[in-house]
Amino acid sequence: ARKATITGLGNYIPPKVLTNKDLEKMVDTSDEWITTRTGIKERHIVEDDVSTSDMVYVAAQKALKNSGMKADKLDLIIVATVTPDMPFPATACLIQERLGAEKAAAFDLEAGCSGFVYALSVATQFIETGVYGNALVVGADILTKITDWEDRSTCVLFGDGAGAAILQATDKGGMLAFDLGSDGSGGKSLYMPGGGSLSPSSELTVKERQHYIKMEGNQVFKFAVKIMEQSSVDVLNKAGLKPEDVNLFIPHQANTRIINAAAKRLKLTDDKVFVNLPKYGNTSSASIPLALVEAKEKGLINEGDIIVLVAFGAGLTWASTVIKW
Ligand code: ACO
Repeated sequence: ARKATITGLGNYIPPKVLTNKDLEKMVDTSDEWITTRTGIKERHIVEDDVSTSDMVYVAAQKALKNSGMKADKLDLIIVATVTPDMPFPATACLIQERLGAEKAAAFDLEAGCSGFVYALSVATQFIETGVYGNALVVGADILTKITDWEDRSTCVLFGDGAGAAILQATDKGGMLAFDLGSDGSGGKSLYMPGGGSLSPSSELTVKERQHYIKMEGNQVFKFAVKIMEQSSVDVLNKAGLKPEDVNLFIPHQANTRIINAAAKRLKLTDDKVFVNLPKYGNTSSASIPLALVEAKEKGLINEGDIIVLVAFGAGLTWASTVIKW
């Protein structure tokens, strides 16, 4: 059967590093608290003049080069982000123009930190049905521009970045299964209230700090641990596989305690769980593709391997997939 597979990967990581020590000077926190509660040591953050499309452009070009494809061959561009350059037009359209992807359809997809895996599933449907042949899927976010730098419970968590994948048709392996879900009842445990049609930008919304991330960390934490296990089991079932068949498990990089709890429930040993959170923090939609790029570069993903990607995020949402590489 016709399947979709990843034939190229690329990333953009901003050069500027913000360490836990730097944060100690900005809010009442400590390297010790951040390290033990989250696992994060440092994160990369953009300069003021960098937008999401700038990062997407670099990551996309690298992914195209890595797959040996020219941009004019792309049929579809999906950018998963909660921090587009602007509410509209879509960041994907800005990229379509910059890349010169003349024949590509383009749109953004918003599913919080699950966005990249959601976007992979959408592109996969188009490819499996034969509607499209070549897709670019990107996860990119600049959460540091919607972070309240006076809120120590959130500002220590986030970093910026972009990761891109080229998807093409294959007749062996590829994306074997997806598991997507949502629980809108948890929406208010992670959200940005201002700037939409409910509460349009005004002096009042700015004064009330509505253009910043609001989060109930412990609510998200409980949800995340449960759903990472459940979604991984469900997606493996759909693929006719078990946790012990997995060569590498790539979870959303939000908190090492969440990752460790999920891995323990799935009885996965440390060597099968990819973690790069200490260097990047939570990069939202970019977290899974950044991890995928790094795992590939480190030689941890080889032909025939079974890879599980699993994410959770604002919505609340979750998404996982099994890839036979
Ligand atoms: N430095 C020092 N102390 C802090 C800090 C900080 N940066 N932040 C919070 N504290 C304090 C709190 O005020 C609290 O003090 P109190 O007991 O006197 O009230 C204490 O530390 C404990 O706070 P908790 O919130 O209970 O800490 P917890 O162990 O739950 O860890 C954390 C908080 C790290 C946020 C955790 O809940 C978490 O990681 N949750 C998941 C969040 C997440 O993954 N969000 C992203 C989802 S993906 C997306 O879409 C972006």
